[in-house]
Amino acid sequence: EKGGYEHFMLKEIHEQPKAYRDTMRGRINAEGNKVILPELNLTVEQIKNIRNVQIVACGTAYNAGLVGRSLIETLVRIPVENDIASEYRYRSPIVTPETLVIVVSQSGETADTLAALREGQANGAHVLAITNVVGSSIAREANDVLVTLAGPEIAVASTKAYTSQLIAFTLLGLYMAEVRGTQTEEQVSEILTAMHALPEQVEEILAQKEAIKNYAEQISKHKHLFFIGRGVDYAVAQEGSLKLKEISYIHSEAYAAGELKHGTLALIEEGVPVIALATVESVLEKTVSNIKEVKARGADVMAITHEEHVTDLLRSVDQAFVIPKTLPLLTATLSVVTLQLLAYYASLALGHDVDKPRNLAKSVTVE
Ligand code: M6R
Repeated sequence: EKGGYEHFMLKEIHEQPKAYRDTMRGRINAEGNKVILPELNLTVEQIKNIRNVQIVACGTAYNAGLVGRSLIETLVRIPVENDIASEYRYRSPIVTPETLVIVVSQSGETADTLAALREGQANGAHVLAITNVVGSSIAREANDVLVTLAGPEIAVASTKAYTSQLIAFTLLGLYMAEVRGTQTEEQVSEILTAMHALPEQVEEILAQKEAIKNYAEQISKHKHLFFIGRGVDYAVAQEGSLKLKEISYIHSEAYAAGELKHGTLALIEEGVPVIALATVESVLEKTVSNIKEVKARGADVMAITHEEHVTDLLRSVDQAFVIPKTLPLLTATLSVVTLQLLAYYASLALGHDVDKPRNLAKSVTVE
């Protein structure tokens, strides 16, 4: 049942190329310049009238929503807010019939996310669910469902569900962009071409697993570590940190790289591992100056970046992992794979139950 893999998590990490393909299949026209989502009830009129988007979810699905925000804001230029589901309903969110609420849930059964869906509907919003389970409570109650085709996810730590959610957000963003005329056909086809290359690019990252394992063994000796990044890299940092805590029980924090010097820098001392996500070109230079700040305090820095920046970066960091070249909008779908493997091998090195971490359940059906 684990298909020859030692754990479900490792199997599911390796299933990502397929999950990307399956989630894209049938949703792109033959010319490769248009997203088609016939399953949506959301009308062209409704899409044109959307004034704001609220993305609501828990845990890893929330982290996917952070990337989703950046995708939708970039592609469609509509303001997007992210909310943790258990907070959303108690903060009296400002929802109108022109609000699109997007709930994200692998299982479709998370109690807080379901309650958030109902809160959105009670306020007249159209609620679109991104879920991996067609017959789930969330899928049944939502006004619209965009299914991720990741296949069953058994390991408590979510991997292929997260990346499929990113694919779903990209497709949705492109679809909305087309209706609202915010991207040209050329821009859309450039992004779709880049998306088609992702599955093979994930394979390239999977091929680095021995090196990632070595690094994981190194960090497994530490009690605390930090993830830093800017923009989408910060969103991925948050997912990497959650994954590591969840299955390796190593304490880590994810910080917006520029925020470190507002307090957290005090925690950086000799030998503390810092994992720097450095894939977003537009802010690369800024991230590098933050890397230098932690290096100057003795941190041991590992960077995740593109090939073309490695030589430069290696002047400021101790080691680096490369992700294949893609568009800035899509880097999260690749860089996170390195972090999933890192969490997996750190957990393994520490002898933990990778697929069933302590205190956690796969599906959280209580508030
Ligand atoms: O099924 P859901 O996507 O609604 O689950 C949400 C979270 O409970 C889930 O993503 C959790 O954070 C994962 N175990 C993280 O790996």
